Amino acid sequence: MSPSVSTNTQTSNLQTSVAINEPHIVIEGGYPLSGSIQVAGSKNAALALIAGTLLATSGVTVLHNLPNITDIADLVAILNSMGAIAELSQGNATLTVDASEGRFNEPPPHLVSRMRGSLQLLGPLLARQGIVRLAMPGGCNIGARAVDLHEKGLRGLGATWTIDAGCFFAEAPFDGLVGGAVYLDKPSVGATMNTMMAASLATGVTTIENAAQEPDVVDLANLIVAMGGLIEGQGTSRITVTGVESLHGCEFNVSPDRIEAGTYAIAAVATGGDITLIGADFNALSPVLSKLTDMGAHVAQDGNHVRVWSGPVQTLTGTSIVASPHPGFPTDLQQPFTSLLTLVHGTNTIHDSVYEGRFGHIPYLTKMGANIKVEGSVTIVSGVSTLSGADVKATDLRAGAALVVAGLAANGQTRIFDVHHIERGYQELCQRLRQLGARCWHVNVSDTDMLVME
Ligand code: EPZ
Repeated sequence: MSPSVSTNTQTSNLQTSVAINEPHIVIEGGYPLSGSIQVAGSKNAALALIAGTLLATSGVTVLHNLPNITDIADLVAILNSMGAIAELSQGNATLTVDASEGRFNEPPPHLVSRMRGSLQLLGPLLARQGIVRLAMPGGCNIGARAVDLHEKGLRGLGATWTIDAGCFFAEAPFDGLVGGAVYLDKPSVGATMNTMMAASLATGVTTIENAAQEPDVVDLANLIVAMGGLIEGQGTSRITVTGVESLHGCEFNVSPDRIEAGTYAIAAVATGGDITLIGADFNALSPVLSKLTDMGAHVAQDGNHVRVWSGPVQTLTGTSIVASPHPGFPTDLQQPFTSLLTLVHGTNTIHDSVYEGRFGHIPYLTKMGANIKVEGSVTIVSGVSTLSGADVKATDLRAGAALVVAGLAANGQTRIFDVHHIERGYQELCQRLRQLGARCWHVNVSDTDMLVME
C-alpha cells in the first residue's frame, strides 16, 4: 500500500518558493540500481506514428507498444477532437485509429500548445485535405525551435505557407501536392517527417536530401510502407518517397525508446549499479553505450537484452561529449549524461549546439554540489566526490531526467518539483526505478489533502 503523510508544511530550503503539496518526486539517493526493466516504446517515434495514422484513407491503423505518458494521451485527445476515431486500450499501450473520413476539424490550440509533437500533424493533414491550419506547438523550452525547414519541405511539394494570427496555414495547389527535390539545411527530425508524410500522398517522386537519420524517422517511414506507401532510403541522409493515391490501415509496433533506455543506463552507471534493459535496441543505443564503456563501465548484449554495469562512479575516467544528429550522441541524453559527469574525476566537456538552451538543469546540479561552468554551447564539468540532495525544479523534460540521475547518485534526499515535464516522456518513472532498487516516489495530493506516494 502507498504511504501517506500530512500536507500542511511548506518547504524552507528552495531557491524558488514551492509548496510541499505540489506534486513532486522524492528520491533517497545512494542506492545502486540493480535488476531488469522492460524498455517502453519510443515517445518521439510514437508521436509521429500517431500523426501518421491520419494518412490512412481506408481501414483502421493499430499501433502497439506505445509508452503510457501524457504527451501520447494529449495527442490522442487532439485526434479525437479533430474527428478521427482514436481509442487507447491495453493499459494505453495500444491505439486504434480510424481516419478514413478524411475531413478533420482544426486541431484544438490548447492541446496543440502542450507539445512539439503536434507539429507532425501538418504533413498528414495537408496531404489528406489540401489545407491545414495549426496553432503554434509547445514542448520543451530549450531554444528557438524554428519551423523554416518544415515550411521548406512543404513548399517543395508546391504548398503555400503563411503564418496568420499565430497559426501556421498551409495549402496545397488546386490539383494537389506534387513531388519535388527538398534539401534540408539541417537534418531536422520533424521537417523530415512532415515532408515524408506529405509526399507519401503527393503525385510523383520526392527526394529529401540531408534528411534526419534518427530511428524515429525510420519507424515512421516503415509505418507508411506498411500502409502501402513507397519510401526508400530511411535511415540514410537521402530519402526517396514515391507518392501513391491512397494508403490503408495496418498494425505496427513502436520501436523501443533509446532515450528512456539511455537514461536508465546512465543512472545505473552513476550509482555504480548493474541493470538489464529488456527489449532494447542495441544499435540505436550505441552512441551512449560506447561513451559509457570508454569511461570504464561495462556493457553486454544478448539479443534485445542489454546489460550495463560499473564499479563506483569515482573509479570511472572522464570523457567529452558532442551532441549531434543521429548517429551522433543524442542531444536528448546530454542533460542526464552531464549529471553522471559531475561525479567523474577530472575535467569533462559537453558540447551541445543542437538547441541553444538545453541548460536548465545546470543551476540545480550546482545547488546539489556540482562544479559546472557554461561557456556558450559548451559545459565544462569538474568532477566532485559527492552530490548532496536538495530541492530542485525540472525546467524541461530531459532537465528533469538529469535531476533524477543526480538525485539517485546523491547523498540524502532530493525533491524534484514541476514533475509534469518528466511525465511527458517517462512512463511510470518512480515505479520502474523502485523495481531497480531505488528509493524514489512520486508524491501527489489526494482528495483528503494527504500526500500519496506512488
Ligand atoms: C525532435 O524534435 C524531438 N522531439 C526532440 O526530442 C529531439 O531533441 C530532436 O528531434 C532531435 O533529435 C520530438 O520528436 C517530438 P529537429 P524536433 O527538427 O523534430 C533546428 C525530447 O526531449 N530546426 O531535429 O523539433 C532546431 O531549432 C525532445 O524528447 C530548424 O532550424 O527537432 C534544432 O536546433 C526535445 N528549423 C535542430 O534543428 C526547423 O524548421 C533540430 O531540430 C526545424 C528545426
